[in-house]
Amino acid sequence: MGSLVQYVVTLIAAASTVSALGGLQNIFFEESKGQDLLPLYANHQVATLFLDQQDWPGVIRAGLDLSDDFKKVTGYSLPVVNFTSNICSSVHGQIDTAIIVGTIGNSSIIDGLISSKQLNVSEIEGKWESYISKVIQNPAPCIQSALVIAGSDKRGSIFGIYDVSEQIGVSPWYWFADVVPPERNQIYVSKSIVKTQGEPSVKYRGLFLNDEQPSLAGWVQAKYPEGLYNSYFVHEFYVNLFELLLRMRANFLWPAMWASMFGVDDPKNQYWADYYGIVMSTSHTEPLMRATNEWTTFGNGSWDYSTNKDNIIEFWREGIIRSKPYDNMWTTGMRGFGDTPITGGVEVSLLEDVIKTQRELLGEYFNETNVTNIPQVWCLYKEVQAYYQEGMSVPDDITLLWVDDNWGNVRRLPVSNETSRAGGAGMYYHFDYVGDPRDFKWINTISLEKTWEQMHLTYEREADRIWVVNVGDLKPLEVPIEYFFSLAYDMDTWGQINTVMNWTVAWAEREFGAYYNDVEEIADILDLYGFYASRKKYESLNTTTYHLYNYNEAVTILEQWSNLTDRAWAVYNKLPQKVQPSFFEYILHPVVAGYTVYDIQISAGKNHLYAEQRRNQANSLAQYVQQRFQDDFNWKKEYDALLDGKWIHMMDQTHLGYDYWQQPMRNTMPPVAFVQSAEDALAGSLGLTVEQSRGAVPGDDQYNAVAYSNNTLVLPVLDPYTPSRYIEIFNRGIYDISFNATAENDYVTITPSTGAISATNNSIWNSVFLEVTVDWDKAPDGYNIDFIDISSNSSYGFFGEPSVHLPINKTSAPSNFSGFIESAQLISIEAGHFTNNISTNDTYYVEIDRYGRTLSGVTLFPVNADSQQASDDSSHLEYNFYSFTAPQYGANVTVYTSPSLNVNPYRPLKYAIAVDNEEPQIVQIVVDPTDPTAMPAGWETAADDGVWIHNTTHILDGGEHVLKLWALEPAVVFQKVVVDFGGVVESFLGPPETYHQD
Ligand SMILES: *[C@@H]1O[C@H](CO)[C@@H](O)[C@H](O)[C@H]1NC(C)=O
Repeated sequence: MGSLVQYVVTLIAAASTVSALGGLQNIFFEESKGQDLLPLYANHQVATLFLDQQDWPGVIRAGLDLSDDFKKVTGYSLPVVNFTSNICSSVHGQIDTAIIVGTIGNSSIIDGLISSKQLNVSEIEGKWESYISKVIQNPAPCIQSALVIAGSDKRGSIFGIYDVSEQIGVSPWYWFADVVPPERNQIYVSKSIVKTQGEPSVKYRGLFLNDEQPSLAGWVQAKYPEGLYNSYFVHEFYVNLFELLLRMRANFLWPAMWASMFGVDDPKNQYWADYYGIVMSTSHTEPLMRATNEWTTFGNGSWDYSTNKDNIIEFWREGIIRSKPYDNMWTTGMRGFGDTPITGGVEVSLLEDVIKTQRELLGEYFNETNVTNIPQVWCLYKEVQAYYQEGMSVPDDITLLWVDDNWGNVRRLPVSNETSRAGGAGMYYHFDYVGDPRDFKWINTISLEKTWEQMHLTYEREADRIWVVNVGDLKPLEVPIEYFFSLAYDMDTWGQINTVMNWTVAWAEREFGAYYNDVEEIADILDLYGFYASRKKYESLNTTTYHLYNYNEAVTILEQWSNLTDRAWAVYNKLPQKVQPSFFEYILHPVVAGYTVYDIQISAGKNHLYAEQRRNQANSLAQYVQQRFQDDFNWKKEYDALLDGKWIHMMDQTHLGYDYWQQPMRNTMPPVAFVQSAEDALAGSLGLTVEQSRGAVPGDDQYNAVAYSNNTLVLPVLDPYTPSRYIEIFNRGIYDISFNATAENDYVTITPSTGAISATNNSIWNSVFLEVTVDWDKAPDGYNIDFIDISSNSSYGFFGEPSVHLPINKTSAPSNFSGFIESAQLISIEAGHFTNNISTNDTYYVEIDRYGRTLSGVTLFPVNADSQQASDDSSHLEYNFYSFTAPQYGANVTVYTSPSLNVNPYRPLKYAIAVDNEEPQIVQIVVDPTDPTAMPAGWETAADDGVWIHNTTHILDGGEHVLKLWALEPAVVFQKVVVDFGGVVESFLGPPETYHQD
């Protein structure tokens, strides 16, 4: 019995993944017993598609796409019957199976089915972008059975059509990411499932093609005819984008604007947007449907409302006249020219006058319409948010479009008295950015988990009227873009916590499932890529971002990338050749190109370190970096060559050699150093260094511990809760060396203890790591220093034989203790590894998987909860730990939280922390500056490093303790906690998690 239930559950789960991005599945590919199915394609017969010529042109056009989509998967297009009022008048004889599409109120057949009660549309009628998809028997005298798709409005019908396209296997990205549709032998629709798709979660869902230089601009220039004013952003390009947006269930666009003028480059642009069904708008800095460049080209005088008002009003007037026939979201307000503030200060009254004037203009041209019914938006970008904070009032019907900090951290969300506004609120978010402190515009660096966390918060706090995301060049951000639209469309499904992996698996199934069974592997590679790439933007990464000798940090990071690359290649190599281009664009290219940049930066960092340590390997690493720099170029060439140059220039973006916020004009390799390979080191060919040391012995070196001679280095302390330490021996001269390492006491083991290193081997790996371990049963109690001698055949010049000091500390926590144990004078804890998660009735902590920089994030739910108190009776997290050291001035506790901002300025983000029964200490994570135009202190670093770091001090004795953490506000996300008893050293991610005794 149990197994039968399980079998049924598995079947349902397997079936639902196929179309999970689009909600309920009603299309199937196998005739199965018990299911009442209507064949849309079987035995080389396809259904006939009926399109009502009185419907919206965009609906008819999408219908023709559906006909083509059937051809993509079956080889047969759907025959199309165009009809006007009488559906049977253009049909000879009887049609067995039909697909009938129509919009309620625009289609005689749909309206007829409603009045004859064959179709009940009460759940969707009058709703925004909704549809019903169901099978009806004898919908007309000439039709036996039909899949009827009835839209509540134009886009409701279009989304209903594209839902079938997606379910049969045609990806929205079939053209933009070359996804190869599967081959189907049969396609059925369920006769019993009624698919009722209600309103999208967010009303307007769109993207902003921003800063489309050099990549997108280069590509359109190579691929499309020239429009007016030297622009190539013509309707032939845009119609592809409109179709992509609609297939992803989006409806809104801020067009390219840096080197183009949507409304004039190609006068057909907006006509086609409206024809397809896209609501056009203009970016935050471009009021009333006119591009910034239009002012440069056609405007009179300066873009200064205080001195040149009449000309500016005239300019806007023309924008209204031009766009009035179409569906628009009118951007209101004003910024300075070219994405800058209008003046130095906060110009509240001026801006209020601007908006008042703009509305008068709208009223004038839409004279039959109440101006409050014209969709308008005011974007509170950068300094504009300050005007609002300073009390600027805007009419209630204008949507307030809040923004992030350009780095994916939402700055502000509606507070209590703002949620009832008629115009509601929205969010302008960034997946790509050009500006201070640094651009990020090369390839994808987006974590879907972080996107989920911030957009979930946004939605729950009722910024749900417009979501628009800056996608730069579009192409390398395919996956985050679609994820963003999935959230915006269906928060009921994708708003649930820890559904990112479900989404990625469903996505991988849709894109590659027909050609690769292990879609979980593809999904995992994709998700891990976002995890790795979001830790630091490629443009910000430098040679020392990750620590080169503490905690093996840089090496560990590089190994992660290298493993990911191997996994991506393994999938790629097993895919049929025709499917490889798509996998390359989506996954292989970002993974290998990202790895290459990490390798260039980290290897250059190692080259500098090795040169300081005078190692021969510095030279081979310098060559290796040059080779990887060439690889970086080769990956671009590969992208350019793909599918006979289909995506040429798409990877033209420079990404190596940033020295201020703006892109370098040419990729530039980090500098590398060489040692003189023809002569020996003054202290001989043998050199050694130890873990956590920058220095090398024997010989003079500013980084050697001053208390010791220039022959000795000191290892960090080794204790029973630290697995091992390492010594590294290398050649830094012209003679081959052999060595022998001996510990003073037999409880110290060195593996290997002997070795040889050639002077002429050019491998970058030409060194020997000696692992040092201790047999704790034999070691003496307490703290001791052990000595390790290194003897060799090398001459040491004027210096002596090198040696290493090994401090050991035999500590012991009670065997019945469960929790983290001090190790090398520190405890590092992943926030998700709490001992206790204490919930009260109305709040609780949840762990967001694979979120942040190291493992996961822990945050307070629900995100609409009130401010919390730090008490044992309120929800909090507890971490048991055991310490041996009692620093005189206390232990320092570092809490790593996500780089979130004070989305509610009246409730700044705070946490509380206490050890044992201490009075909790309250830490305000983000302190907003008094200057409303400024960002919080430390914001640049927090955004760039992906974390806020705060410290508190706690006086502790050695022994058992409980560390308690409270998020005093929702939206605080804990990532890591480090207790420092004096052992913490510098690193980017903080010390890796330390010993935990179960
Ligand atoms: C139906 O109409 C569309 C345009 O509305 C046209 O492109 C198509 O060729 C027509 N099909 C037939 C079979 O007449």
